[in-house]
Amino acid sequence: MEIEQLQETANNLIKESVSYIVTNTAELEQFRIHFLGSKGEVRKIFGFMKDIAPSDKKEAGLILNTVKKQIETHYNKLQEQLSKKENSTSTYDVTLPSLGNSIGAKHPLRIVENEIIRIFEGLGFHVAEGPEIEDDWHNFTSLNMGINHTARDMQDTFYIHQNPDWLLRTHTSSVQARMLSKGELPIRILCPGRVYRNETISARAHCFFHQIEGLYVDKNVSFAQLKQSLYVFVQELFDDNIKVRFRPSYFPFTEPSAEMDISCTVCKGSGCSLCKHTGWVEILGCGMVHPNVLKNFEIDPEEYSGFAFGMGIERITQIKYSIDDLRLYSQNDMRFLKQFQVSI
Ligand code: DAH
Repeated sequence: MEIEQLQETANNLIKESVSYIVTNTAELEQFRIHFLGSKGEVRKIFGFMKDIAPSDKKEAGLILNTVKKQIETHYNKLQEQLSKKENSTSTYDVTLPSLGNSIGAKHPLRIVENEIIRIFEGLGFHVAEGPEIEDDWHNFTSLNMGINHTARDMQDTFYIHQNPDWLLRTHTSSVQARMLSKGELPIRILCPGRVYRNETISARAHCFFHQIEGLYVDKNVSFAQLKQSLYVFVQELFDDNIKVRFRPSYFPFTEPSAEMDISCTVCKGSGCSLCKHTGWVEILGCGMVHPNVLKNFEIDPEEYSGFAFGMGIERITQIKYSIDDLRLYSQNDMRFLKQFQVSI
């Protein structure tokens, strides 16, 4: 065989091998057997060596080694491409349905707070906010809580640096004090926010929780209006058939004071653990603003009257969603929070 002929056969073999594309390991193996196997093309072309004239053998050796090297290199390249493809995550099936957007979840307390606000806004209330670090006057004294009132007990209140004048507010009634001190009447506000009490954390108590306070002060505000507003509120929040009852109670800043119960939303009155088998669930405290409170803000109780109410958002959420452990609200457990996820 002439050396030129060998060169041409070699060139064709290289051309043929580099045009190969493989898409899986079986095809790669086919390539190996076809070109590099014991009966493969490379072996065959090496077989021509014996037909080459002795003077050309050196050159023929170079040609054959180049063929072998190039085909081996291409084999390695194909192998590498295949393993990259197998490990790659960028291959995707465009026909698969999309996963949708995950947009996080509103916290259940926020959902309920927003719902309460929405209902009272429909009754003409608007949201007012105040600071979580409060002074004694707004949290206690102005709200008719005398210096010896039990609510001031160190066990309930977090004081700041042992300074008896500064504290973490123990209720959002402090915001009604702040708003009354502005002296703008009539006033119809809703004060949502976080409050703090020095309690041991358990399923039923926490050192912080959330409240919504309502306050309406105007001429001729009556207890009947208070009852009717709260009745409309629970009908909207729960359902039209809900029953309410008011029990006389005591709060220093209201007179008369009451607590409002609703008929149990779980058992509808037949008795369950939520209502402790009474058929009734307590949801808020309320009353007519105490004349002393009005006087503390230079409002004449002969001319103006008002009603106020306060409720725990955790309590309402517990009733709405049957959540019976307060700690769940602040543990950031995704399994809990995801249940309130809204998907689009
Ligand atoms: N501030 C009270 C508390 O933290 C709740 C409350 C009761 C607020 C009666 C009121 C009210 O405005 O009239 O327990």
